[in-house]
Amino acid sequence: MSGISQFNFPTTIRFGPGVIEELPGYLEKNQLKHPLIVTDPVIAGLPFFKSILQSLDNKRFRVDVFSDIHKNPVKSDVYRGTEAWDASPHDVIIGIGGGAALDVARAIVLRVYHREDLFKYDDLIGGDVYVTGDVPWFVTVPTTAGTGSEVGRSAIIADDETHQKKILFSPKLIARIVFADPALTMDIPPAITAATGMDALTHNMEAYLAKDYHPICDGIALEGMHLISRSIADAVLRPDIKSRSNMLMASMMGAIAFQKGLGVVHSLAHPMSSLLDTHHGLANAINLPYGMRFNIKGFEEKFSRMAEALGLKEKSGDAVVEYLFSLNEQLGIPEKLRGADVQQKHLEILADLAFADFAHPNNPKPVTREDFLRLYTEAL
Ligand SMILES: [Fe+2]
Repeated sequence: MSGISQFNFPTTIRFGPGVIEELPGYLEKNQLKHPLIVTDPVIAGLPFFKSILQSLDNKRFRVDVFSDIHKNPVKSDVYRGTEAWDASPHDVIIGIGGGAALDVARAIVLRVYHREDLFKYDDLIGGDVYVTGDVPWFVTVPTTAGTGSEVGRSAIIADDETHQKKILFSPKLIARIVFADPALTMDIPPAITAATGMDALTHNMEAYLAKDYHPICDGIALEGMHLISRSIADAVLRPDIKSRSNMLMASMMGAIAFQKGLGVVHSLAHPMSSLLDTHHGLANAINLPYGMRFNIKGFEEKFSRMAEALGLKEKSGDAVVEYLFSLNEQLGIPEKLRGADVQQKHLEILADLAFADFAHPNNPKPVTREDFLRLYTEAL
C-alpha cells in the first residue's frame, strides 16, 4: 500500500441480553429527562416496546413517541419527526428499530440544528460540509440484526416524489451509545431473520472485497462472516439467544466493516427496492451468489480466506458460491429473481439503475452496465 489512510470506529456499544434495562439509568446519569423516541408503527405496538416505555414511565421521564414513518423512509417523515421534536423541550433522541427507524432518527438528529432543505446535506453532492452545527444527544437501540444502522453515521432517505435515495452523512451523526440487546430480536419471524441476516452477510463479504486499503475492517469482516456461518441457520430455523446474539453482533460488524465500501451485490439489490419494493435483505440474498461468482477471477486469494472464515472444506471461490446457493435454499430464499417478482421486462431499467448506483465503484473489479444486465439475466 502507499499513501496515508484514516480509520474511524464507532461509539460505545453496550451488548447482551437484558442490556436495554440500563437505558433509564443511563438517561438519569446524563441528566436527560425528556426523550423523543423514534420508531416504526409496527414496533410501536409490540410488547417489548411497551415495556421500554413502562420502564421510562416508572422513572418519571416525559417520553414522546414518533412512529409515523414509511418502510422506505422519505423526507417528509424526517420533517414531521422534527416537528415532534420542536413541539416540546426534548433533550435526547432515542432511535429504536431496524434500518428505517434508525435512519429517520438519525436524519432528525441532523435536522434539529440544520434547517436548510434536508437534501442540501446529501453526501453524494458534498453536502456533508454543511453539517457544521450541534446535534442533539442520540441513542440507538437495534431490534433487527441486519443493517447495522445503529453503529452507522449515515442515513438513507428518499425523495417523496422521485423516490431517489439520498445519503446524509457526518461523523457527528453517530450515536453516543448503542444498547444492543439480542433479546429484543427474539420475536422477529424467520423470513425477516433470514433476509436481514443475509444482508449482514453481504455487508461483511462486500466490505472484505471492497478495494480500499483497510486491514482493520478486513479482519472484522472475516470474523463477521464466521459468526454468521455458525449461527444464521439456527437464528432462522431454531432461534435461541446464542444464535440471535451472534447475528446481532455480526450485523454490527458488517456495518462497521462497510465504511470501507460495498460492491456489485448492493448495486444489484438497490434498484429492486426502489423499482419493485423488494425487501433490501432479500434482494441482496438472491443476488449474492451471482455477484460473488462475478468477483472471483483475480481475487482467488481473498475468496480462499472467505471460504476459511465460512468454515468450508474446500478453500475456493467456487466453494463459496456453492455455499451461498445452498444457504439460501436452507433459509427458504428463492434461487432466482423470478421468486421475488422480477420479470424479463424489468431487466433493462434495473441494469440502468444498478449502473448509476453508488455502491459498485468500490467493487474490487469494475462493473459495466452490460455486466449488470448479464448478472440479472443469469439470476432471473
Ligand atoms: Fe445492505
